[in-house]
Amino acid sequence: MEGIKEVWVNLPGKRYPILCGRGLLARAGQISLERQWIRSGRKVFIITDTHVGPLYAGPLAKSMENAGFSPVIHTVEAGEGSKDFDGMKPVFSRMIREGITREDKVLALGGGVAGDFAGFIAHIYMRGIGFLQFPTSLLAQVDSSVGGKVAVNLDEGKNLIGGFCHPDGVISDMDTLHTLPSRQIADGMAEVIKYALIGDRDLFARLAGSDSAELMSQMDDIVVRCCEMKRDVVERDEKDTGDRMILNFGHTFGHIIEKSLTYGFFTHGEAIAVGMYRMALAGEKLAITRPGTAESIRSILIQHGLPWKLTPEQEEKVEQNFQKTLRIDKKGGQEDMTIIMLKSAGHCFRMKITHKEVEKLWQSGR
Ligand SMILES: NC(=O)c1ccc[n+]([C@@H]2O[C@H](COP(=O)([O-])OP(=O)(O)OC[C@H]3O[C@@H](n4cnc5c(N)ncnc54)[C@H](O)[C@@H]3O)[C@@H](O)[C@H]2O)c1
Ligand SMILES: [Zn+2]
Repeated sequence: MEGIKEVWVNLPGKRYPILCGRGLLARAGQISLERQWIRSGRKVFIITDTHVGPLYAGPLAKSMENAGFSPVIHTVEAGEGSKDFDGMKPVFSRMIREGITREDKVLALGGGVAGDFAGFIAHIYMRGIGFLQFPTSLLAQVDSSVGGKVAVNLDEGKNLIGGFCHPDGVISDMDTLHTLPSRQIADGMAEVIKYALIGDRDLFARLAGSDSAELMSQMDDIVVRCCEMKRDVVERDEKDTGDRMILNFGHTFGHIIEKSLTYGFFTHGEAIAVGMYRMALAGEKLAITRPGTAESIRSILIQHGLPWKLTPEQEEKVEQNFQKTLRIDKKGGQEDMTIIMLKSAGHCFRMKITHKEVEKLWQSGR
C-alpha cells in the first residue's frame, strides 16, 4: 500500500501486520475492510483517554463509519491510574449496553495505557474478542503495541494481572506524534536508544549523528526498525521465558529507580535512561563493556533531554530501597536473576547473578 511500511509478526496460530505511515487514522476504516480485520457492518468499540480522544477519536470513528462500521467511543481518564482492575467494570457494562458481541472489535486508541487496558478488556470480554491497536505515543508505537502483552495494575504493583493476547493488526499513524508532549517523545526515545544498544549499531550511530528535528522526519523508519527488532525477539520467545529478557536492558535498575522515587517522579523512559548508563558504566568497570560505551550513551541521553544520573538525595533513596524493590520486581525470580549486559553498543548478552551482586553492580556504576 502506498506510503505504508509493514512489519509482519508470525507466531504459531497468529500472523498479523504492524502498519506504519502518515495519515493512517483517516484511512483506518478502509484498511480494516480491505484486510478483513472487521466483518462488514459490525460495531467497533473505541477505547481511548481524555487527552487522545478529543484529538483522534472523532477522525477514527468517522473513518470507521465511512467504511460501514458502527463506532462507539468510550473515554477513560488519561494516565496510569485508569489502567486498573476497578476501571474495567464500567467499560464492560457499557460494552454490554451497546450490544458488543464477539463478532465486533475493540479498538485501542492511545498510548501504552490505553493499549494495555483495552487489550486486556478484549482478552477477557465474553472470553475474548478481537482487537486492533492504534498506538499514538512513541513508546506505544515502538514497544507496548508490539508483543501481545496486555495488563492492568494492582495496588501491589504494575501489570500484575494480564495475559498474552495479540491484536489482529496495528496501525501506527506517525502524524499523531505531532501532538505528543516533548517529555513523552523523550520517554519513547529512551526505548529507541535501548533497541539500538541491544542490537543495532547502525541505529545507534544514526541516533548519535542526528538532531531531534532530523530524527522526527525519519521517525517512521525508526519505528519500523524498533518493531522489527521487538518482533524478532517476540517470535523467538513469545511468553517471555528466555530471550525476550534482552528487552529489559536498563530496566532492572530503571524499575528500582521508578519504585524508590515513587512512581511519577521520573517517567519510565527517564528511569531506564539512568539505568542504561549506569549498567554500561558498571560493565566498563568490570572490563565486560567496551570502554567509552557509557560516555557515548550519556551524550545521546543528553541530546534527547533524558537524565543520566541521580542527585545525592535520590541515590540515597535508591540505596535504602534497593533490595526490597528488587525482590518485588516480578521478573526478579528467586535468589538468582538475569540481567542484560552490553559488550558494546549494539551487542548485549544475558548474565545470571544474585540479588547481592546486582546491588554491587549498581554501586560500582556510581
Ligand atoms: N504491553 C507492553 O508490552 C508494554 C511495554 C511497555 C510499556 N507498557 C505500558 O505502557 C504504559 C506507558 O505507555 P505511554 O508512555 O504511552 O503512557 P500513556 O498511555 O499514559 O501516554 C502518555 C501520555 O501521553 C498522552 N498521549 C498519548 N498519545 C498522545 C498524542 N498523540 N498526543 C497527545 N497526547 C498523547 C496520554 O494521554 C498520556 O497522558 C505503561 O502502563 C506501561 O506499563 C506496556
Ligand atoms: Zn521499558
